[in-house]
Amino acid sequence: MESQTKRIDFFDKLPTLGAVVTAAGVAAPYITPERHGRPFTMILVVTRRCNSRCKMCSIWQEKNSPMLSLDEYRHMFREPLPSIRSLVLTGGEPTLRSDLPQIWEIARPALPRLEYGLLATSGLNVQRTLDQVTVILAQIEANPGSLKRFEVQVSLDGIDETHDHIRGIDGFFARVTRTLDGLATLQQRYPMLRTRLSSVVMPDNIEQVERIHAFARERGLSIHFSPVVLTGTYFNNLQDTEVLGFVPGSQKSQQAHAAFHELSAEDQSSLRFYYDDVAQMLDGDSRSRTCLMGFFGCVVEHTGEVYPCPIWEYESFGNLLEQSFDTIWFSEQARNARYNLRKTSCPTCTSMCYPHAVGLSEVVQEKLDHTRTRAQRLIGRILKPDNSAISTTPKVDPIDDLNPDTSRHHTSQPEPAVSHPTHDDLFIETLK
Ligand SMILES: C[S@@+](CC[C@H](N)C(=O)[O-])C[C@H]1O[C@@H](n2cnc3c(N)ncnc32)[C@H](O)[C@@H]1O
Ligand code: SF4
Ligand code: SF4
Repeated sequence: MESQTKRIDFFDKLPTLGAVVTAAGVAAPYITPERHGRPFTMILVVTRRCNSRCKMCSIWQEKNSPMLSLDEYRHMFREPLPSIRSLVLTGGEPTLRSDLPQIWEIARPALPRLEYGLLATSGLNVQRTLDQVTVILAQIEANPGSLKRFEVQVSLDGIDETHDHIRGIDGFFARVTRTLDGLATLQQRYPMLRTRLSSVVMPDNIEQVERIHAFARERGLSIHFSPVVLTGTYFNNLQDTEVLGFVPGSQKSQQAHAAFHELSAEDQSSLRFYYDDVAQMLDGDSRSRTCLMGFFGCVVEHTGEVYPCPIWEYESFGNLLEQSFDTIWFSEQARNARYNLRKTSCPTCTSMCYPHAVGLSEVVQEKLDHTRTRAQRLIGRILKPDNSAISTTPKVDPIDDLNPDTSRHHTSQPEPAVSHPTHDDLFIETLK
């Protein structure tokens, strides 16, 4: 019954969805380093520490990587960022920070228009994850503000021992299922909670895509698949390219192509366009749709450095501990980085680019709907200049928020001094 309702909703929205994609495609070439606004999405890497042993990501191999203290987060979120609609907490394994709910609590007042929150987790640390999510949900319940949804994204790269093998820990799959069970129970108490699955497709699990998909369906969970991304930054796995990568033309690559082709045919969300592109890129072609990261989304790393996306952590836009967000976002440095990444990395990048998962597509759709309404109103005025039914009441235009010239939070204040407290207040418990 529920899936039937979803279907009708989707087909109702299909013309709008088509318009969104077309408009995004048309607009993309005009989004230049000089012509863009502030981001909708912020991905916050709260730690690079991790207690998994994944094959496709070597973050866990970094020992004792530094972390920001709560005071440093307070400093980073010292000024409001009203353009941000979705905030992703990720890592490393973010739940290893026992102060994760406090980070969320510190960030929220600076994000007055936040609509979507997402926690990306491995699901390994069962009770810890459930406890932290409960605290965050209780905080939201006490002060919902503009928040519409909080999602927990749990990684699932295989069923049973395939997941254990890829994630390098016996019993990992069993722990993930316990985390999912706990989240399902929690959702009954907090209806704004959603759980989704995220799956990385690589040669070791290509045979399992259908089983993973079936697992998600059985539990009524949303899921997205991404082919393994090979990068010298973030996942830092270029050294394992031969084992992890799909060689164009190989049998595994053809299997992956077929799998993504099928996912595209089945999917009822904007992800289908991403899956189309992935199938194309697995054949050695370039992506045909522009990714929104760097312009509408950004990553804030565990050091305060701001990057356009996880894949382009070669050139920082600047550091939030040292400069205001606007100074960083509209800097020459950021302009150069955007230009370089668009030219070099984007055409063949298969990254899923988080915004799809965290409501950015909904935000874009909302803005395009708004633009369409304005266009219709304008056309109406031209056709019927005296039409009194057309409202002339000036409205706040959300798109103005994206224009650096109409800044509501640009600061010309001198940058406050940055304190660097010790990290003694941070507690990391590695659950083995
Ligand atoms: C780096 S993890 C951080 C959150 C958490 N530790 C986890 O594993 O879900 C964020 C996402 O990146 C995905 N990921 C890891 N390695 C990847 C790779 N090489 N290519 C694409 N996605 C990858 C993970 O599966 C997860 O969904
Ligand atoms: S994918 Fe997540 S769990 Fe695995 S090593 Fe990377 S950060 Fe850790
Ligand atoms: S490198 Fe990849 S993730 Fe980064 S902006 Fe380009 S397409 Fe998006």
